[in-house]
Amino acid sequence: MYDNSKLKFKEFPDFKEIKWKSPSNIALVKYWGKRPVQIPMNPSVSFTLQESATTTKMNIRPVQDKETRINFYLGKESNELFAEKTLAFFNSISSIFPFIKQLDFEIKSENSFPHSAGIASSASGMSALALCLCDIERTYFSTLQTEDEFFQKASYVARLGSGSAARSTFGGAVLWGETPYIPDSSDFYGLSLKERLHTEFKNYQDTILIVDAGQKKVSSRVGHSLMKTNPFASHRFEQAKTNAENIIKVLETGDIDTFIKITESEALTLHAMMMTSMPYFLLIKPNTLQIIEKLWEYRLETGIPLSFTLDAGPNVHLLYPQQYKKEIKEFISSELKKYLQSPGVIYDYVGTGPEKLN
Ligand code: PMV
Repeated sequence: MYDNSKLKFKEFPDFKEIKWKSPSNIALVKYWGKRPVQIPMNPSVSFTLQESATTTKMNIRPVQDKETRINFYLGKESNELFAEKTLAFFNSISSIFPFIKQLDFEIKSENSFPHSAGIASSASGMSALALCLCDIERTYFSTLQTEDEFFQKASYVARLGSGSAARSTFGGAVLWGETPYIPDSSDFYGLSLKERLHTEFKNYQDTILIVDAGQKKVSSRVGHSLMKTNPFASHRFEQAKTNAENIIKVLETGDIDTFIKITESEALTLHAMMMTSMPYFLLIKPNTLQIIEKLWEYRLETGIPLSFTLDAGPNVHLLYPQQYKKEIKEFISSELKKYLQSPGVIYDYVGTGPEKLN
């Protein structure tokens, strides 16, 4: 839908450095299962994070040899693997941005969170790259002049890099995938739910507990593809459709009790899908379960609406209203610290979305 053969330089201007910071996000209703090309089997809804972000600086120049070259730095280190992957991604989207073929790129990318934190750096990283490319288009071709056009295209392109990245180009809460409840929703790009967010959720906290700092054991690419043969898949996709609609209603009304039920069930269902795939796999650890048990006891005893969600790994995301931050900090130090590995605890919260830096 975005192919545009006109986006080619006739002559080269003086290029300026482009720099974007883009956040990661945590899914409340999970995307797990897709069809080509990067189309989700069900709608998903996430909170955008504030602190966990990727900052990407892009320097471009006219291509020196016949083919585009990319130098990629992750932090201070040059990273061959990322350079190769980015080149493959850029080649795959060159009909959207034909100018890619006319340029060489130096890309410097930094994550605000440790690699070992198990926070999805693909979402923030792909989103930052997509924003830089859209910014090249906007600056040198004078298209994408409205905010809506700009961020919708960025989300579309980010999705092609990593599905969940489609949700990282907006702040607050984001829906990606078609649902009859939201007429403008699309499988091709995310849609901001910021304006719909009830006050209760505007500063909602996400405190990430690092249970295991090791590398992911199963890539999400493999995980998604196992859903093609998972015997429970079709029911799961139906359940997620209902949950997506209901979580949006919850985000609008501020109904925290239902929020807890949906998000915890989604987290456990995601892992149930992994356990029931063939081959099956288990990404939660004994300490993940210890934390969940403690959390449930704590919620029952104190009445504090603390809940959890999980990504495709063992680390636990604690979700709660900002007003309980002090109590939750105490609860973590007294009851949960013993289950954690360095870096231990990362405090994050619902964020404002990506930002262009000078
Ligand atoms: O964007 P991917 O392909 O890395 O998939 C992300 C899958 C989950 O993080 C497990 C769920 C989600 O919706 O973010």
